[in-house]
Amino acid sequence: MIKITHLTKRYEGLLAVDDINLEIGQNEVFGLLGPNGAGKTTVIHMLATLLKPTSGTALVNGFDIIAQPAKVRSSIGIVFQAPSSDDMLTGYENLKIHAFLYGVPSYDREKRIQSVLDLVGLAERQHDQVKKYSGGMRRRLEIARGLLHRPTVMFLDEPTLGLDPNSRGMMWEYIKKLVKEEKMTIILTTHYMEEADHLCNRIGIIDEGKIIALDSPLNLKKSLGGDIVKIRPRSWKALENIRLLPYVRKVEIVDGDVVMLVENAKKNIPDILRHVDSEYVEFRSPDLNDVFLKLASKNIKESGEGGFMERYAQYGK
Ligand SMILES: Nc1ncnc2c1ncn2[C@@H]1O[C@H](COP(=O)(O)OP(=O)(O)OP(=O)(O)O)[C@@H](O)[C@H]1O
Ligand SMILES: [Mg+2]
Repeated sequence: MIKITHLTKRYEGLLAVDDINLEIGQNEVFGLLGPNGAGKTTVIHMLATLLKPTSGTALVNGFDIIAQPAKVRSSIGIVFQAPSSDDMLTGYENLKIHAFLYGVPSYDREKRIQSVLDLVGLAERQHDQVKKYSGGMRRRLEIARGLLHRPTVMFLDEPTLGLDPNSRGMMWEYIKKLVKEEKMTIILTTHYMEEADHLCNRIGIIDEGKIIALDSPLNLKKSLGGDIVKIRPRSWKALENIRLLPYVRKVEIVDGDVVMLVENAKKNIPDILRHVDSEYVEFRSPDLNDVFLKLASKNIKESGEGGFMERYAQYGK
């Protein structure tokens, strides 16, 4: 559905998107993750023909973003990072204008408006002005609007930004419904790792304009190569022994705890405890936050790659 070749965007001195190549298939939910300023929105805006690449191009739904921008536009939907509905109008009016702008045939307009309103659960509030909507309702209206002209590809730039956990969960359900019932391809960006894990079949991590990792959430987590184990030794003498154990891949001391990346923790924890007397032991599988923090932040890399374990200790998960 999307084929990106050598896509590049330069803003004066700054290389915002640096020679990206990527293919996204039909019915994928593809997550674009990366720190602030990584280039996610720039990529999406170029794919949606709102921004011209400096070089390179992409096919979206088989149409070239440079040679056939109008065809691309009519086959995509986009939900912007910043809200873009008109506050003074009602939800219904916003949708009606959009249907008109996108050439939804008049005989079908009313039916489609009501069906997208139903889909996002806003039918009852459709005649209220948008300024009276909550943040979550506004987000849902944006999604409804993006869906109105039945796009086959949908771009969602931080669709759940600022939503409470309940509204976020509801948004996840809408997104899954779209993929299942409308057979849509979705490209989304998010800073919520559990969201990416929950929704995406594939994730690209982008940093400083480059894709630095590309895989399924499961494989990305596996790529860390172990589980995260936290212990609090009664004596620090044994610590060197732990470092030498073959299945211990990394050891850090954070706030008086020893945090380790351990291959096959379930099997190896008893052996660790034979080497060190510990007040307690906790372990968990790595999550996407660990992956993200390990890969995506230059500052973290420079301070010794340890960020993911520091976070572990900090939040005590
Ligand atoms: N119009 C512009 N002029 C100059 N630089 C820009 C412009 N738009 C974006 N940039 C720069 O391009 C880089 C990528 O920005 P972009 O908005 O794509 O990041 P992002 O990954 O979406 O970040 P966030 O997570 O904060 O939304 C940033 O360094 C940003 O400052
Ligand atoms: Mg952005």
